[in-house]
Amino acid sequence: MADVYRLLRPFLFALPPETAHTLALAALRRPALIPRATRSSSPALLGGVCFPNRLGVAAGLDKDAVAVAGLAKLGFGFVEVGTVTPRPQPGNPKPRLYRLAADEALINRMGFNSAGATAVAARLRRYRAEPSDGQVPVGVNIGKNRTTPLAEAERDYLACFEALYGLADFVTVNISSPNTPGLADLQTRAAARALTAALATARKRLTPAGSQLKPLLVKVSPDLPGEDLEAAAAAALEGGADGLVAVNTTLARPRALRGKHAAQAGGLSGAPLRTLALDAVRRLRRCVGDGPILIGVGGVTSAADMRAMRDAGADLVQVYTSLVYRGFGLPRRLLAE
Ligand code: FNR
Repeated sequence: MADVYRLLRPFLFALPPETAHTLALAALRRPALIPRATRSSSPALLGGVCFPNRLGVAAGLDKDAVAVAGLAKLGFGFVEVGTVTPRPQPGNPKPRLYRLAADEALINRMGFNSAGATAVAARLRRYRAEPSDGQVPVGVNIGKNRTTPLAEAERDYLACFEALYGLADFVTVNISSPNTPGLADLQTRAAARALTAALATARKRLTPAGSQLKPLLVKVSPDLPGEDLEAAAAAALEGGADGLVAVNTTLARPRALRGKHAAQAGGLSGAPLRTLALDAVRRLRRCVGDGPILIGVGGVTSAADMRAMRDAGADLVQVYTSLVYRGFGLPRRLLAE
């Protein structure tokens, strides 16, 4: 499939990035057309969830949970859908996604375009009703609507959580997207602790007696200065989170970027994020110890990168941008080695 993608890529890259993305998702929505990759089976049991392998799809690729079965067929061991907002919203005006091909990077300022929690719940219900052969764990990444004032953010996260917890295998609380004004301020110690505590309380209420609590993770930014990353992580765990997803996209622009869109506003992802992401994962593992679940994400393009992420302390690894540059055969290649 790698060679097919090499032929296909120039055509996809001649299209605006978001059009190419929509086309790729349209293909993945028809899983019957996708040959099933032999899924590498090195299962991992984390937080009571059995992951068929440790490589997953990062949030943002399948925001509305339309392509979970297709993505699973590519060989991924889990899929994180979202970010989901409580009410549907269109996101920022287009264009809002840019390729920096020379850097194998993307810049996006999508701004949480979302079909909303009710629509995503209906899709996940449909996915759960399909024959379970080949199903993978699904994480649901939740956020807030743009128009909700930050002081009322908790209400939005709770609304998403209540609509989607029962359909998820784990939930990720996104407080680190750079494209919703003020959102990243929820990473301050007091805010992160209060929000996770509210969600942990809701989780108890929503979990049937005798059932295991599903993991609650918090996604953090690589842009937190100084010790703020460790402080945000500690606060999330104090509030009752079981782990962290590190990292979201960065507002930083490494000086060596060559792509002509490097000055576009938004979050940078892909290869130039790798060093920041590895560093964050290493620091977080050192800070939180062995227990909490840690998902490493940012700039993973090869089996060596995946190994480096694992060595830095990640239990699970996710990709997004490298899938755009390397194609649907990527998970199979990363897992083959
Ligand atoms: C993202 N990412 C993202 N993260 C998140 O928590 N919620 C989201 O809605 C989105 N949306 C989104 C859109 C686009 C177009 C991109 C490229 C990325 C961030 C993503 O999950 C991941 O953290 C970063 O992209 C870093 O990983 P990669 O892309 O370097 O593998």
